[in-house]
Amino acid sequence: MKKNIFFSIMVVFLFATTFSSAVSYILSNFLTMQDYNEDIRADMLSLSETFSMVYTSSDISGQRIADELSSSVYSIEILDSYEIAEIPSSTMTKLEMDNVVLLSKPFSTSSQCYFMAEDLVVRITPNTNGYIIQSRNNRIEFLLLSMIIFSVIIMSIAGRNVTSPIRNLTKATQKVANGDFDVFIEVDDDNNSEVAQLSRSFNNMVTELKSNEMLKNDFISNVSHEFKTPLATVSGFAKLLQSGNCTPQEEKEYIDIIRTETDRLTVLCSNILKLSKIENQTILTKTTEFSLDEQIRNTILLMESQWEQKDLELEIDLDPVTFNGDEELLQQVWSNLIGNAIKFTHKGGTVAVSLKSTPELITVTVSDNGIGMSEETQKHIFEKFYQGDTSHAAIGNGLGLAIVKRIIDMNGGTIAVESRLGEGSVFTVQLKNTNV
Ligand SMILES: Nc1ncnc2c1ncn2[C@@H]1O[C@H](COP(=O)(O)OP(=O)(O)O)[C@@H](O)[C@H]1O
Ligand SMILES: [Mg+2]
Repeated sequence: MKKNIFFSIMVVFLFATTFSSAVSYILSNFLTMQDYNEDIRADMLSLSETFSMVYTSSDISGQRIADELSSSVYSIEILDSYEIAEIPSSTMTKLEMDNVVLLSKPFSTSSQCYFMAEDLVVRITPNTNGYIIQSRNNRIEFLLLSMIIFSVIIMSIAGRNVTSPIRNLTKATQKVANGDFDVFIEVDDDNNSEVAQLSRSFNNMVTELKSNEMLKNDFISNVSHEFKTPLATVSGFAKLLQSGNCTPQEEKEYIDIIRTETDRLTVLCSNILKLSKIENQTILTKTTEFSLDEQIRNTILLMESQWEQKDLELEIDLDPVTFNGDEELLQQVWSNLIGNAIKFTHKGGTVAVSLKSTPELITVTVSDNGIGMSEETQKHIFEKFYQGDTSHAAIGNGLGLAIVKRIIDMNGGTIAVESRLGEGSVFTVQLKNTNV
């Protein structure tokens, strides 16, 4: 059987109360015994004095006085000649000299008193089993026993309360170990006990684990989905071409589709590779100093065919800025942001790119007056494979902004978005100015 924590606490507690009660009982007995002996001796002396006084000053018989003075605690006997003969001789000589002898043993309540009243030899024996002493001892024993019983009852109730959060934790841990991440331990906000803190950390840990688990699952299913769709298209059109019943016009069309889809797959593969590479990279290894304004200008030029096709107006306002960072990675940031702005803006719209620098900060904004995003979309755009606007799903795969975010993070910068559905979007990237 598994020993649970409650059981252990109870055993320790029972041992502690029993042990301490027993020790204190013995100790208190030992300490009060001395006082008892004193009291008993004083009692016996005064009894002997009373006896002698009454016996000498009246003609009441010794036996009668002895009977009257005897009590449940002290018995007084007049000794006959046989009994007198049994008294040790050392005691006897002392008795003849002092008239009274008190005998007692160390660490014991058994004592005796001999005394002489005229011709009589009298013995007083305290009855340590007497009613008062006995009842006092009984009371103490009862007190200790009831103390143990009551504390065990209280402990067993209180102990359950103390150990129940730990038992909950154990159960929850077992669930997590079995792969169930939907466990949550209720903790009061104002509870600051160790167990409450432990439970809170546990909840945090489970949330972390869960999100990791979800990311992994999501990532794999997303990747498979992204691959499946274009592959199915390619295989479908390839079959049509194989059948040989297509007009040359159709053939050209199908081949075009196959090419676009394979291009898409190539881009997807390279994006996944890029992302996994930068996700596993924590420090920038290839930092150089380069002109940021030139890099952005070149990026815009490289995309000329895309924005010319859509008749977009470009407003470019770039301060000359040199920056120390990973040139190749930052190039991806601008091409993704500007590419999105072009993609999500209607024909004849405007895309503006600006670069401003202060001694501390470099700010790049990419804005457009395109389709914009809802609040909900804005919350997710930096997630892998998230595509807010499905009408453009054919181009891109939702990895662009995830890559951008990661690169900006690695460069110690920030990226923010401001957007309104139907009105346009502004992406603002801020980097620390390295030219100080
Ligand atoms: N300039 C923009 N205007 C409107 N929506 C945008 C803009 N840039 C990004 N988005 C939204 O963010 C989503 C994610 O962007 P991204 O990661 O680059 O993926 P993709 O471009 O492949 O769709 C897009 O699908 C789109 O919904
Ligand atoms: Mg994109």
